[in-house]
Amino acid sequence: MDNDQNNGPTVAVVTGASAGIGRSAAVEIARRGVGVIATYHSRPEGAEETVDPIRGLGGTARALRLDVGDTAGFPAFREQIEAELDAVWETDHIDALVNNAGFGGGRAFEEMTEAAFDDYYRVLLRGPYFLTQSLLPLLRRGGSVVSVSSSSVRPGDSELGYSGYAGMKAALVTASRYLARELGERGIRVNTIAPGPTRTRIGGDAFEKYPEIIPGIAAKTALGRIGEPDDIGRVIAFLVSSDAQWITGEDIQVAGGYAL
Ligand SMILES: NC(=O)c1ccc[n+]([C@@H]2O[C@H](COP(=O)([O-])OP(=O)(O)OC[C@H]3O[C@@H](n4cnc5c(N)ncnc54)[C@H](OP(=O)(O)O)[C@@H]3O)[C@@H](O)[C@H]2O)c1
Repeated sequence: MDNDQNNGPTVAVVTGASAGIGRSAAVEIARRGVGVIATYHSRPEGAEETVDPIRGLGGTARALRLDVGDTAGFPAFREQIEAELDAVWETDHIDALVNNAGFGGGRAFEEMTEAAFDDYYRVLLRGPYFLTQSLLPLLRRGGSVVSVSSSSVRPGDSELGYSGYAGMKAALVTASRYLARELGERGIRVNTIAPGPTRTRIGGDAFEKYPEIIPGIAAKTALGRIGEPDDIGRVIAFLVSSDAQWITGEDIQVAGGYAL
């Protein structure tokens, strides 16, 4: 997905782009000359902080609200995207979908409730799965889907209390591998990317509120520090670009060697 290799504009949809990894991915994708539809959930001001630097780079971006946990809203979201594509980019397709939106935080097994488990399921698994289905008719041949999984899926990384979160991320990785096969028939690549602990607002802004947890994480990381959003965003931008045209069905660790 590079502007100079296609006729007409190229556009990516990035969910959860009002903060952290999604914001970095949106800016890095835009840096490569691609238009961006950046979604937010509760913080429109966060989306503006993503769209502004993209405009500063001379790029084009729009912010739309999306609750990934509410699949009933997906048809209307798709219509909004179609309207933006037509009005802003004079096109009827997207080139990439980045399923990044999510939330973190653990919950001990004995304290897990069905409601909390359903929240993990709706936002981390059902949402990206059916958003991909909903936007598939807009995704051009040769396009790609990148979903954000987590290093918590790997053996060796098994923090206490993350059974619900990691269980959904593991299912997302497996479903994406299967989709790579099904959508490969249309030339669409599907990958997941697995960040290690990354300094974002995740977990109720835990890294900001409890900085004392960072040295322990750095000590468990081969490269000796915590991840930053740009460590991840740049790799997402690479994965949706044509430089990654021969990569599909993979779950790529971007974790600095966390919990090896
Ligand atoms: N940070 C890490 O250590 C880490 C590690 C592994 C994987 N991840 C994954 O990386 C992804 C991005 O997280 P982050 O670390 O960048 O966290 P973040 O800074 O908290 O950003 C989360 C983003 O997701 C959006 N969001 C939250 N709930 C949503 C919902 N129901 N519907 C739509 N959007 C929603 C937020 O929107 P608003 O702010 O507008 O509400 C925000 O834009 C998540 O899938 C997370 O599981 C993170």
